[in-house]
Amino acid sequence: MANDTVIAPSILSADFAKLGEEVSAIDSAGADWIHIDVMDGHFVPNLTFGPPIIKAIRPCTDKIFDVHLMIEPVDAFIGAYAEAGADIITVHAEATPHLDRSLQLIRSLGKKAGVALNPGTPDSVVEYVLGKVDLILVMSVNPGFGGQSFITAQIKKIRKLRTMVGDRPIRIEVDGGVNNETINSVAKAGADTFVAGSAVFGALDYQTAIQRLRYKAHAA
Ligand code: DX5
Ligand code: ZN
Repeated sequence: MANDTVIAPSILSADFAKLGEEVSAIDSAGADWIHIDVMDGHFVPNLTFGPPIIKAIRPCTDKIFDVHLMIEPVDAFIGAYAEAGADIITVHAEATPHLDRSLQLIRSLGKKAGVALNPGTPDSVVEYVLGKVDLILVMSVNPGFGGQSFITAQIKKIRKLRTMVGDRPIRIEVDGGVNNETINSVAKAGADTFVAGSAVFGALDYQTAIQRLRYKAHAA
């Protein structure tokens, strides 16, 4: 069952005045993936990166670009994010009326497909699309902002998803409020992929911060 642990720093908490350098810095510091939070000011109450910014930072690292789309509608923009350099494209189950179709579209572009679930969304929404999913992202805060507190009720959802996923090659990612205090319990519940914004970019030394998170996840 156990997938390798992946630590994916979210550049939402990076210094945007030097975004390229920040991406290179987390690459050298040992980040496995680069988590990119795309927000539209409609599905979530904040605005962030469009495809040109993702394209601009693509040459700064060879690491996987884990693109979390918090946008509605979403299908019309998936192609642009694929072209900009995304490796994994995650859509919110709440933001697409035809989840199965959105996932097929992502895979048809040769990208890995993810589904994100808001804290209030039940795990059952992914039950009938498991054959088309590479990653399930459990939001452990309400999406829109970095630096929020972990919602502990999501632990139960992670546990249920781990059972539902079984032997399928699907990653379970947790996003929001992941830090040295919370990562152990989410890893224990069955998550293998950890997004951390403020816990990495808020640290003085990115390498130590990533190492510590990895250590605490492994200790689960
Ligand atoms: C929130 C984003 C998260 C956020 C995590 O909508 O999806 O990726 O950046 O930030 P922290 O780790 O600070 O909670
Ligand atoms: Zn995210």
